[in-house]
Amino acid sequence: MDVNMFNLFVAGRISFGPGVSGRIGELARSLGAKRAVLVTDESMERLGISDRISGIMEKEGVESCIFAGVEPEPSVETTDAVAMLAREHDCQLVVGLGGGSCMDVAKAVSVLITNEGSASLYQGLGLVKQPGVPKIMIPTTSGTGSEVTFTSVLIRKSDGFKGGINDDKLYPDYSLLDPELALTMPPKVTASTGMDALTHAIEAFTSKAASPMSDLFAREAIEKIGSALRVATWNGSNLEARSEMMLASLYGGIALANAGVGACHSLAYPLGSMFGVGHGVANALLVPYVCRYNALAAPERYYEVSCLLDYSPEGLPLREGALDCAEALHELVEDLALPSKLKALKVGIKPEHFDEMAIKALAVARPMANNPRPMDKEACVAIYREAME
Ligand SMILES: [Fe+2]
Repeated sequence: MDVNMFNLFVAGRISFGPGVSGRIGELARSLGAKRAVLVTDESMERLGISDRISGIMEKEGVESCIFAGVEPEPSVETTDAVAMLAREHDCQLVVGLGGGSCMDVAKAVSVLITNEGSASLYQGLGLVKQPGVPKIMIPTTSGTGSEVTFTSVLIRKSDGFKGGINDDKLYPDYSLLDPELALTMPPKVTASTGMDALTHAIEAFTSKAASPMSDLFAREAIEKIGSALRVATWNGSNLEARSEMMLASLYGGIALANAGVGACHSLAYPLGSMFGVGHGVANALLVPYVCRYNALAAPERYYEVSCLLDYSPEGLPLREGALDCAEALHELVEDLALPSKLKALKVGIKPEHFDEMAIKALAVARPMANNPRPMDKEACVAIYREAME
């Protein structure tokens, strides 16, 4: 870990608190927009939340085109279609309302309005030429941290390639974090997105690129998730637990934006691209096994994670405390009723797929490079095998 030098990147302005999403109207007006594209999904439409947000903007003289068709694993094709809609209607503002998939599409649409061609042209690092139109994120889950990151992860349906548009021009200008919007989130979504946030925080905390600043956010996120995720999942109307989770997701997002994630995210990618497993479910399933693999490469860090999760007492032998981290995560995954074995996903994953999955995981190179213990193809296959049944 390089402690001599670091940078800190965050989204332009973050507002947090119950009811804060009601400020969207004045904010949209202050940005001088006449028309916004509101990027969301079917559940926000069904719950009437997208109509409420567009109504607030309309009162301030900002019309909106609502696109409520974002998929759980968003695609290049959908993103291109929303961008075309936004260009045709001359939208000068993009609002992302929903989970990480809606925000990822919204962030990409913001730069596709000002940059020609398909989103697939910009999958990579630093390929976006022109700044996008202003973008405001309103997360309704607590997990992805997309409201504060510069990444939009999209699947290309034509060939199954899954990759991120990673560019400073994707940082949101504003994020409105309103825990009241999370109150209706179902237990399974709460649990899986919360485990994604925890994976961000743990992987940032144990990343080779961690800094004292990213550590602040990562530690706080791990502790909050350890104390609030079970309650938020099984007692969804508890506003305090929802607020803690939304803050933890924000902190995890800031930690990951600055320290990166690790091997668990790389290993989770092929589960999404080859078998359609949701990002949070895939991370929740794999993170205990990855922590077990990594624990003795950075034992002080993993022991601290285990203590932050209120699993291990202080004063244990270092080896024991570090290995406890995997046990703490197994217990959490079990308490949240999430799948802990690949076989339990029932998506047709078989041992003969492991080679291809490992090659695809290793191709997600940046997180692999941050991982505290080097990982080769054999190590990836061994982790998939251990997680199988
Ligand atoms: Fe993630």
